[in-house]
Amino acid sequence: MAKLKVGILISGRGSNMAALIKAAQAADYPAEIACIVSNKADAAGLEIAADAGIPTATVSHRSYPDRESFDRDVSAALGKHGVELVVMAGFMRIFSPWFPQHWAGRLINIHPSLLPSFRGVHVQQQALDAGVRISGCTVHFVIPDLDAGPIIAQAAVPVLAGDTADTLTARILRQEHRLYPQVVRWIGEGRVGASGNGGKVAVEGVPPGATLLFSDEP
Ligand code: GAR
Repeated sequence: MAKLKVGILISGRGSNMAALIKAAQAADYPAEIACIVSNKADAAGLEIAADAGIPTATVSHRSYPDRESFDRDVSAALGKHGVELVVMAGFMRIFSPWFPQHWAGRLINIHPSLLPSFRGVHVQQQALDAGVRISGCTVHFVIPDLDAGPIIAQAAVPVLAGDTADTLTARILRQEHRLYPQVVRWIGEGRVGASGNGGKVAVEGVPPGATLLFSDEP
């Protein structure tokens, strides 16, 4: 079967992108990484992608008068590579409504909190400030409202006494690298769809509870 063509949007380091590139190197992985698009020319992830032989493009938001014209060029860059699923991996630009509407059901994001708690930025610090005992990450479909789209899967980590934003961020990130390739695999296998259940996402044919990972660290 043809592999799902994935385009990844980044703004920086690209560690989630790297985890996806690695996963996609397995012969049985149902998705291939068709291109990487960054809004920053100096994003470190671009070099990782180029080293892996994946086409890259930079669309600098600074060159555009408004969000929608930037969004349309990002979309065109993805379209050149026949992208069928857009994966946001540390892409730190807020879209105009046009982009998530255009890619509705084909646009996902990973966010370093257990949504709907802690939307926006500095969310690991928000979690520490709130005193929660569990945090984690969420993969969700993207809609025009920020960090509010239907949840596909989550991974949970403990918040430990003495945690700083840095230690909690690192613990969550290790789970992001497990969760995101798993979700893209499910999408590539055609298992992920909106159920009739109030817009909640169903993942077909996976064991109950498989869309919630728990930290495997001691
Ligand atoms: C990740 O922790 C991701 O969840 C977060 O940015 C980091 C990117 O790291 N994304 C957001 O906060 C989006 N709201 P990476 O570039 O190494 O993948």
